[in-house]
Amino acid sequence: MCGIVGYVGPQDALDVVLEGLRRLEYRGYDSAGVAVRVGDGAAGELASAKKAGKLANLEKVLADSPLPASTIGIGHTRWATHGGPTDRNAHPHLSADGRVAVIHNGIIENFAALRARCEKRGIEFASDTDTEVAAHLLAEAYDELPAGPDRFAEAMRVVCRRLEGAFTLVATHADEPDTLVAARRNSPLVVGIGETVDRNGTTTPEYFLGSDVAAFIAHTREARELGQDQVVEIDRVRGLTVTDFAGAPAEPKAYTVDWDAAAAEKGGYDWFMLKEIAEQPRAVADTLLGRLSETGQLVLDEVRLSDQDLRDIDKVFVVACGTAYHAGLIAKYAIEHWTRIPVEVEVASEFRYRDPVLDRSTLVIVISQSGETMDTLMALRHAKEQKARVLAICNANGSTIPRESDAVLYTHAGPEVAVASTKGFLTQVVACYLVGLFLAQVRGIKYEDEVAAIVEDLRGLPEQVARVLEQMEPVRALGRSLADAGTILFLGRHVGFPVALEGALKLKELAYIHAEGFAAGELKHGPIALIEEGTPVVVVVPSPRSRESVHGKVVSNIQEVRARGARTIVIAEEGDEDVVPYADHIIRVPRTPTLLAPVVTTVPLQVLACEIADTRGYDVDQPRNLAKSVTVE
Ligand code: F6R
Repeated sequence: MCGIVGYVGPQDALDVVLEGLRRLEYRGYDSAGVAVRVGDGAAGELASAKKAGKLANLEKVLADSPLPASTIGIGHTRWATHGGPTDRNAHPHLSADGRVAVIHNGIIENFAALRARCEKRGIEFASDTDTEVAAHLLAEAYDELPAGPDRFAEAMRVVCRRLEGAFTLVATHADEPDTLVAARRNSPLVVGIGETVDRNGTTTPEYFLGSDVAAFIAHTREARELGQDQVVEIDRVRGLTVTDFAGAPAEPKAYTVDWDAAAAEKGGYDWFMLKEIAEQPRAVADTLLGRLSETGQLVLDEVRLSDQDLRDIDKVFVVACGTAYHAGLIAKYAIEHWTRIPVEVEVASEFRYRDPVLDRSTLVIVISQSGETMDTLMALRHAKEQKARVLAICNANGSTIPRESDAVLYTHAGPEVAVASTKGFLTQVVACYLVGLFLAQVRGIKYEDEVAAIVEDLRGLPEQVARVLEQMEPVRALGRSLADAGTILFLGRHVGFPVALEGALKLKELAYIHAEGFAAGELKHGPIALIEEGTPVVVVVPSPRSRESVHGKVVSNIQEVRARGARTIVIAEEGDEDVVPYADHIIRVPRTPTLLAPVVTTVPLQVLACEIADTRGYDVDQPRNLAKSVTVE
């Protein structure tokens, strides 16, 4: 997800940029870097520094070898996507002649083709990132344009027209003493406009760029929001100029930031968890980005297992902990259905102790947001000792689990700060779909039409999640009314069962309320005895179009618990009228194919748990007794 800062003004640029990076470090902490433009007039040069690890590492480098003073600079804090979290992959990236420095947030989808073209022209790349290509292209476009005030911005527009994917780019050029240019497509970028007053009372304007307002909130609250596909130039003389990628003038949206600095980091939300819930459409879109071709094919080049290896697989294990384990349970339904390969799902802490049957033709999929969970790591090592092939689904680039796996598919959720996993989970589920469909593709698809349709439905998921999020106010009100509950039960069937487990886990860990998730069909085999007058029961209802009348059976389960006094809270598809007579509360979700439904039905349960915990006065982001990554067995 990465944090981006840019500054043009009378202050020392490095101070301003580093201060901004400190406030943006929550967006990524794999590496950090800065570049400043130094020199008088047009005869300038760039000076830069970058370092893997937290910002403190870069600050140490700068303390040992300070950069020259400057009034124009850029800075970046990285959450790695393409290329591991190393010094050489840290931003800024410089053009071959060292005259352009670029920082980037997002994923340049067509970077491989662009890189190949640059390499053909003799350019040697200094990193493994998708970003570096933008620095080379920008230098080239600039050199080909005639001198003039608009040259740098026009060069950026030329480059943007060649890029596919999601990007915020900010660039500085050694020949441009007064100007920074930036661009955005599908990734955030805001401009801050301020002024400083010197000892003599002289006022000088200053301009800031940031991935969010936290980058410059200490200096100004006057902000401009850029639209999609726009290029912005900030120039100490000409001020702010915004155009679209074709060069037509555009008017950015002006607003005043009324958050304090802490709220700004949370994007104005009360909790990081709420912010991360809201980021889910973007996180899902980023996880799909570049992995679905125009023709509906899955493109998972980074899964470095040969087609033959994938064809030889005769059994899949999915191994993970907690919320990631629930993603694995959903994966079982999808992978078995699409590939007909048997899938077992197991909590990592149990896996190796029961001597599972593994060999070379077993694929073990380990799922971990942090990539550092010790139980999952030990399961991975056990699987490798038994000669199984291990594929990691992970969010933290370069962490131990993907490093030790044979192959990795990264989720692109960006850093998850709240202890309770939300966007991490949704993107894990999406990554599991990608793996399942990829396996089906490589092995020869059995349900060819169905798979093609599912690929289309995957593309629609970010929009579906966004629609769910638009309707969360009644869910929050419901959450407040449930804050005194002693027990809340969650029921689901088919892929709704893992969703019920996830809903219960979220509630337990955040609100400290006794909660249990059950397969709805198991109710009559025992758990129904728990129902008392007023017991809240959340039911995740499958689509009425789901196979083998599972829908009707769950509707019957709702009637059964209601007849015994339960307060029924029903999550049902839009247009499902069958549930209406038996629901005390209905939470509507958009129509989604059965196997993909968890991506929409989980979201209200996240919001519900968050709201209940908040109403009970608990720290939502750091629940008691828990840690973000559990590095002990
Ligand atoms: C619950 C939660 C945990 C993690 C589990 C695995 O909200 O976050 O259950 O899912 O500890 O963590 P990772 O995915 O980092 O391996």
